[in-house]
Amino acid sequence: MLNIVVCVSGGGTNLQAIIDGISAGTIRNTRIVGVISNNAGAYALKRAEQNDIPGFCISPKNYESRADFNQALMDKLAQLNPDLIVLAGFLVILPQQMIATYRDKIINIHPSLIPSFCGTGYYGLKVHEEALKRGVKVTGATVHYVDEGTDTGKIIFQKAVEVLEGDTPEVLQKRVMEQAEWIILPKAIDEIAMKEN
Ligand code: GAR
Repeated sequence: MLNIVVCVSGGGTNLQAIIDGISAGTIRNTRIVGVISNNAGAYALKRAEQNDIPGFCISPKNYESRADFNQALMDKLAQLNPDLIVLAGFLVILPQQMIATYRDKIINIHPSLIPSFCGTGYYGLKVHEEALKRGVKVTGATVHYVDEGTDTGKIIFQKAVEVLEGDTPEVLQKRVMEQAEWIILPKAIDEIAMKEN
């Protein structure tokens, strides 16, 4: 059984796709042992609660220094002891120590076809705003392992999504989620879980 911790900051639709995948059996051999949010108001924490998954808020606002926040995050992870950490819209710069401790055990979903529209400053709606500004006709999403760089780790899956005439960032974000993110993130977890056996 692959024990996963899902780290979130916002709405948690990717978390929901994981929860749904586990109940539908499309994600096999996997259990969510905890959800960690850096934001107390994240709807993702509600989703955890509704599904009887332990949810934790670890916010930089509650710590005197970044080092204290990083330590609290590391302590919580150590307690939960995951086989895999899934960053599902977690908008926090990871402590170096976390990347080193969980090498090849952290994956992230990014809402573009890496290496386009990724790296520092490219997150959430901003990614889609930039894609529309550039006028690309195809965008998509990428699941990748996390290393020391920003969105530089080994790519696991990518899925392309068409940009349509008249798209707003919000409309494009929703299409990328529906047609790519909610499909490839569960698929990556299932693949990793099946390799564990
Ligand atoms: C998703 O679109 C995810 O790809 C993106 O944040 C959103 C979170 O939505 N992540 C990044 O931009 C990371 N660089 P959700 O909370 O509804 O899953």
